[in-house]
Amino acid sequence: MSRGIEMLLLLLIVALWLGRSGAYSVPKATVKVNSPKGFEVSIPDEPGITLFAFHGKVNAEMDDLSDQTWATDIVTSRNGRWTYHNRSHKLQQGDVLYYWTTARYHGVDYHNYNQRYVVGGGQGANTQRIDARGSGGGHQPIVVNGQPTINIYVA
Ligand SMILES: *[C@@H]1O[C@H](CO)[C@@H](O)[C@H](O)[C@H]1NC(C)=O
Repeated sequence: MSRGIEMLLLLLIVALWLGRSGAYSVPKATVKVNSPKGFEVSIPDEPGITLFAFHGKVNAEMDDLSDQTWATDIVTSRNGRWTYHNRSHKLQQGDVLYYWTTARYHGVDYHNYNQRYVVGGGQGANTQRIDARGSGGGHQPIVVNGQPTINIYVA
């Protein structure tokens, strides 16, 4: 075999390998809690996605992949998003939605396991910890999720 063909083959193998192991990962889902009830979990559409699946449970971690309250396959995208929409379930402030998602991308299923969303918690980004000092000198940690709208007076 000539050196040129050898190089070409090597490049081809590397290209195939890169293509297969693909840097693809399921886009991070957006969770939207509707009022007075209902919620949506969605990912943006992109060429190559033909299915989106949502698996979830509230306030308890899923022990295995079949342990869930919701397991739904979405087979069409709407308005540029793949959306699981539940119109009846009411999520309460402080509820934790444990979920995992699947995207079928060019015929291969990719999963995004161990996701969680805290209702009203801005996914944890907004959590504030206030260390108030009680009259006895002790510390009283108060954890506020979301936008704190409370006044705290410490005697
Ligand atoms: C919404 O959630 C409820 C459980 O709270 C379930 O019974 C219902 O099937 C869900 N709806 C959809 C569209 O998944």
